[in-house]
Amino acid sequence: MAQAPITILTPAESVFDFDYEVRFPQLDRLYENAKRDQWNVSTTIDWDRPISGPPLNMSLMPFCQTELYRSLGAERQDLLGRKFAAWRLSQFLHGEQGALMVAAQLVDAVPDLDAKLCAAAQVMDEARHVEAFRKYITKLDRIYPIDPTLERLLRAVMEHERWEPKYTGMQIITEGLAIAAFRFMHAQTGDELLKELLEYIMKDESRHVGFGMLALRDAVRKLSGPARNSLEEFAFAACDMTITKVENGVPRDGFLSYHMVFDEMAIPLDQIRLEMNQNPSWKDAEREMEKQFNSMLFVDTLIPCLRQLSLLNDRTEPWYAELGVLSFAA
Ligand SMILES: [Fe+2]
Ligand SMILES: [Fe+2]
Repeated sequence: MAQAPITILTPAESVFDFDYEVRFPQLDRLYENAKRDQWNVSTTIDWDRPISGPPLNMSLMPFCQTELYRSLGAERQDLLGRKFAAWRLSQFLHGEQGALMVAAQLVDAVPDLDAKLCAAAQVMDEARHVEAFRKYITKLDRIYPIDPTLERLLRAVMEHERWEPKYTGMQIITEGLAIAAFRFMHAQTGDELLKELLEYIMKDESRHVGFGMLALRDAVRKLSGPARNSLEEFAFAACDMTITKVENGVPRDGFLSYHMVFDEMAIPLDQIRLEMNQNPSWKDAEREMEKQFNSMLFVDTLIPCLRQLSLLNDRTEPWYAELGVLSFAA
């Protein structure tokens, strides 16, 4: 049975722009590219192909070295791999639905017509991504509920009454998170169909980050005083949400609801953790993997964007330094 729907109140404004001149030629070009690069999930992708390899190569996961995992036997290991992939892809799917709705909000709320057209093209892109992930997951297993951290992030973006934080939260941070997660999944999957899907989707997503950067550069420059401070604080809070913290040995925040896959298969995750903790090299391998992902997300993607937008500046840099995301050197 599907998860119950969530209703979010969104108090943003709808703005008419009657200046029909092209004022931002770069946005106009991006809109042209968006039209040129449309693709059709049902016809571009050959869906008759069977899944050609493990959707997620579990041997890369450090917890697969544990006795408990090895005792599961090949069939249950395969099923766990499929379900784990379905859980992760379900988060992509929910994120895409969030992106679809935020892009639609941006059509309404952004003051410039050139940006409205880009946002409208993005609405179609995100609809396509929802379609693609829905189709793939149902081929694989089932759709899992939204992760609480992802829900918190999307809710914060959708509930904001200003369009600048919506842009920052969706086009820079959530899209950045999506690109890093898709790249990670692309590297970890053995299925050609999923690889191909992700390649098409990532191409669209990089256009969305480009759109966000172009539209925001000008908008951030115009902000000053409390509005500027509040945007900087919002950007940091959104980044902070995505990082898993460990408190008294218990992980919190981050995307942790994957435990539901283990619960569903009656595999005791706490015992796996216990076994992992007893072997420092597995623990190190797990930390290394997390570091790789965070480095891809922050060092390669978010930090350069936030710096370019001056949302990472003398005032905010210490916050990011304390969060430990400015570098992930060994
Ligand atoms: Fe998307
Ligand atoms: Fe997107």
